[in-house]
Parts: sequence; C-alpha cells; structure tokens
Amino acid sequence: MATAGKAVEAIGLRKDFGKFRAVDGIDLEVRQGEIFGVLGPNGAGKTTALRMLATLLPIDGGRAEVFGVDVATEPHRIRQLIGITGQYASVDEDMTATENLWMFGRLQGLRSADARATARRLLAQFSLEEAADRPIAQFSGGMRRRLDLAASLITRPPLIFLDEPTTGLDPRTAARCGTRSAAWSTRAAPCSSPRSTSTRPTSWPGASPCWTGGARSPRGHRSS
Ligand SMILES: Nc1ncnc2c1ncn2[C@@H]1O[C@H](COP(=O)(O)OP(=O)(O)OP(=O)(O)O)[C@@H](O)[C@H]1O
Ligand SMILES: [Mg+2]
Repeated sequence: MATAGKAVEAIGLRKDFGKFRAVDGIDLEVRQGEIFGVLGPNGAGKTTALRMLATLLPIDGGRAEVFGVDVATEPHRIRQLIGITGQYASVDEDMTATENLWMFGRLQGLRSADARATARRLLAQFSLEEAADRPIAQFSGGMRRRLDLAASLITRPPLIFLDEPTTGLDPRTAARCGTRSAAWSTRAAPCSSPRSTSTRPTSWPGASPCWTGGARSPRGHRSS
C-alpha cells in the first residue's frame, strides 16, 4: 500500500463470526489531519471494523495499516499510535474520576505527578471538576461517557478511535465538550476544522462516511 499522508488504510477488510460475515470487504482511507466518521444502521459492522483496526479483534480477510504499520502483524506498534473509546464505558465503578484517570495515565507510562496533573486538566476540559472525587458508581450515564472520552486523550495519541462518542450526552453537553471540540483542542498539532459530510464512496454495505476533518502525523508522538 502507498502510505504517504495516510492515517488509516483498509482494503477488503473482513470479519466472520462463525458462518456470519459481520464485515464484508471494507475499503477505507483516512488521511492525516482528518476526522473521519462512519454512519450505518445497527449491526452494520461499525464497531467490529473499529475493533479490528484497533487490534482488539483479529482480521479475517483483507488488510489494514495505521500510519503505514500493518495492523495484523505489528499490533504492539499500532497500540502505541492509537487511543480508543469504546461504545461502552470502560471505567472502574469503585474508583473516583480522578483515580480512574490517574490509573490510566500510570498504565500508559506517565509519572505519578504528571498523571495527576493530566487528570486535573482533562476533568476541567470535560466539565467534571465538581465530580472529581466521587466514585463512578454515582455518575450519570453522560458523566461516565465524558470520563471515558477523557481517558482516551491522556497520552495524546496521533490517532483516536471513538465509537459513538456522543451517545448518552445531551445535545448541549455534546456541543460543549463532546467529541470534536474536546478531541480537537487536546491535539498537540494544529489541524484544520472538521468538514462535514464526505461523499467519498465506500464499499461498506449499509454504512457511509459522514464527516472528515483530524488525525495528526505520528511525528512528535510521545510514546509511553
Ligand atoms: N463477538 C461476536 N460474535 C458474534 N457476532 C457478533 C460479535 N460481535 C458482533 N457481532 C455481530 O456482528 C454484526 C455487527 O455488529 P457491530 O457491533 O459491529 O455493529 P454496529 O454497526 O457497531 O452496530 P450498532 O450501531 O448497534 O453499534 C452484528 O450482527 C452483531 O450481532
Ligand atoms: Mg457499534
């Protein structure tokens, strides 16, 4: 594959669960500096495709590269280049918001003081300061979602996968601290604003790209 300027490239990506083909030959190209969205009905295979690109599921057919690195053969390198927020929150119920973010920071190699400072910054960015010391078990669905998004931004990876990032957020909150603006202002490198509604063709049955506009170059990426 020619990789210059590409953040993600997938050709003929396929996933089978037993006899059921969940992803049937996706071709996908996301350029560095783009935000790229995919719309599709329930069950179209969006999460499954994202999980393959993020090395969480084996690829059964076709191939994919992230910043020119083969997803199937070099998953450890891919994991240093990406952040991911799944469709369902992955925070620890018994810990506070600060403790959760601190723990994710430590797991990703930050020193304790840096992890604490990063937690404070992200809690402010996602309007969770007042809830910083409350256990997640007491959080509303939208608050959990915001914390989950914050956790994906701890190490500022050059590429972030977000699966339904605004699900559970009310429109005002989504507009104020949701995906685009929060992810945007957290990026270290300057990017252009997202553009809406790409009409680029895709071979993804039942799904289509919805907007494009911001993965930055991995240069300057702080690997942890
Ligand atoms: N682990 C699994 N085992 C078997 N089938 C699965 C598995 N994961 C997903 N599927 C099936 O694959 C198809 C695609 O699921 P996927 O979760 O990727 O859809 P989606 O596009 O993300 O849908 P939604 O909009 O509801 O989140 C569905 O039919 C689902 O039932
Ligand atoms: Mg899904």
